[in-house]
Amino acid sequence: MGISESVKDQLKRQVDIVEFIGQFVQLKKTGKNYSGLCPFHAEKDPSFTVSSERQMFHCFGCKKGGDIFAFWMAYHNYTFPEALRDLAERYHIPMDEGVSATREREKSELRKRLFAANEAAAGFFQKKLADPKQGRPGMEYLKHRGLPQSIIREFRLGYAPDEWEGLYTDLKRQHIDPKTAVQAGLIIPKKNGGYYDRFRGRIMFPILNLRERVTGFGGRVLDDALPKYLNTPETPIFHKGEFPYGLHASFEAIRQAGRAVITEGYLDFLALRRHAVNETVATLGTALTGEHIRKIKGYAKEAIVVFDSDEAGRTAALKSLPLFLNEGLSAKAVVLPDGHDPDTFLRENGPEPFLQILERATPLFDFYLEQKLSPAHTGIEGKIALLKEMLPVLLKVRNRAQRSLYVSRISQKTEIKEGVILSEMEALQKTLSPDSFERGIRARVAASRVEGSIGDFQLLNLVLHHPDTVQRLMDCDCRTLLSDPLVIGIVAAVFEAYRQEGQFLPDRLEESLDSEEMRIKFRETLVSNCIYSKQEVQQAIQEIEAKAYHKKISDSFKQAQGDPAAMNRLLRLKAEGPPGFCSGKKALGR
Ligand code: UTP
Ligand code: MN
Repeated sequence: MGISESVKDQLKRQVDIVEFIGQFVQLKKTGKNYSGLCPFHAEKDPSFTVSSERQMFHCFGCKKGGDIFAFWMAYHNYTFPEALRDLAERYHIPMDEGVSATREREKSELRKRLFAANEAAAGFFQKKLADPKQGRPGMEYLKHRGLPQSIIREFRLGYAPDEWEGLYTDLKRQHIDPKTAVQAGLIIPKKNGGYYDRFRGRIMFPILNLRERVTGFGGRVLDDALPKYLNTPETPIFHKGEFPYGLHASFEAIRQAGRAVITEGYLDFLALRRHAVNETVATLGTALTGEHIRKIKGYAKEAIVVFDSDEAGRTAALKSLPLFLNEGLSAKAVVLPDGHDPDTFLRENGPEPFLQILERATPLFDFYLEQKLSPAHTGIEGKIALLKEMLPVLLKVRNRAQRSLYVSRISQKTEIKEGVILSEMEALQKTLSPDSFERGIRARVAASRVEGSIGDFQLLNLVLHHPDTVQRLMDCDCRTLLSDPLVIGIVAAVFEAYRQEGQFLPDRLEESLDSEEMRIKFRETLVSNCIYSKQEVQQAIQEIEAKAYHKKISDSFKQAQGDPAAMNRLLRLKAEGPPGFCSGKKALGR
């Protein structure tokens, strides 16, 4: 642990969590903390909180939280050693291998091997493409698709020759274990021994993560053979739908432009990049996912989705609307003129007309309405069907003005009265959200607790925000006043830390808590406001001392029943009041 512990400490010292997370999530200062839309769950109102003071993040929605390492682990699905190594590399802190538990280490070792196998394969494909003889079909194809050397190089395009064991043989030469190559989805075991290449006779598109490591590949045939594209299957390092393609190269441009242009294909993405529309990413071999959008909204306020002009493109556009509404990222749609996809359009017309089309993009909801309010939905049944489909989507529109605009548009088109649509919406809302209603009630009731009375929540807030009260809280045995098991556990850990180290540093406590529930409660208290001002602390702690004392006495009375001597002692004690507490009698006299 020695070395890695110090790397961890160094990183914690060196990296400011607000700056760090700010690179991946748009944060706004709200009070003493920063907040933004959570990258880990769907939400429209920011409940993702980053505290500069605590160097900690916490999402009040999905409850994920912790330090920079916890963030990086969740963001990339990394194990701790992987997150540590990755951050160490990012911040140029040299580190020794040899970290942590065996299972974690095995997992991260495996992933390291898979990355190495992919890297070797990417190198092989690139080399083959550059080979004047073997790579010729690939190179000609790319030329014919209008891709210049600069793009080929930047995105590390390659070529898999049409052979059964080309890659397999080369990986062996590079000392990559065939088993690893199988796990990476590069080669496939034959039934009666041996292996063969998965990708043959294809243009190869390596898929890079934000660290520009190869997580997988897409491969396109050079003709009309099927399947047109072959992708790496799911592996421990490749998950379809997790990151959009090209984000590693585009996120700066997306941030600068304030928008992301989303296309569907590798070649569309590359065509946009080739024509210097750099704020772009692509979804690959899968529809747009909430995870894609969550990544994108870390960089931009708006997305423009460019769909192919075919039926599939239209359907994809319609399907993506609820996702955008769920994630609170504003979205527009562009449909290209007949028969075009971004690639063919750009090759034919160049970037200027394309940029103009982007400027005229329709809000996705309007696009949705236009498509849905087609003549197919005439007649009573059609209208009812339409309304049934629209209502849930409509409910997701947060902006009231916008929502009522849509309602009136639907009303005009369908000749269903606005009032009817509105009351249907209300009815649906009720059936949809008993959950959030309950949460609302809980929050309201919790917030309205009698002022001045100190419960578990107040005591926890007091000790975490005013660690100098620990000694007195320990002395008066305040734990007898607590009832919430989580708070009891956290306070016990506080006392334990204080006993062991002679001081209590709240920022270090999280690791010593043994349940996730406790850690959540801990973070929530720590990043929320302190409820006692400096002046109020004294009063609060005196109140706790008095209560604890009172409790102790009354508990003892119960025990002492039938023992006159003990009873007398207690009566005397009670008359004296708590030690060192001058207004004790008054406090106990209630
Ligand atoms: P398209 O068929 O629109 O391909 O599929 P494209 O990228 O425009 O390619 P060209 O222009 O015909 O060469 C869009 C995306 O869907 C995925 C690929 O990621 C592709 O880029 N796809 C498509 C597959 O994964 N498998 C397929 O068989 C087809
Ligand atoms: Mn295409």
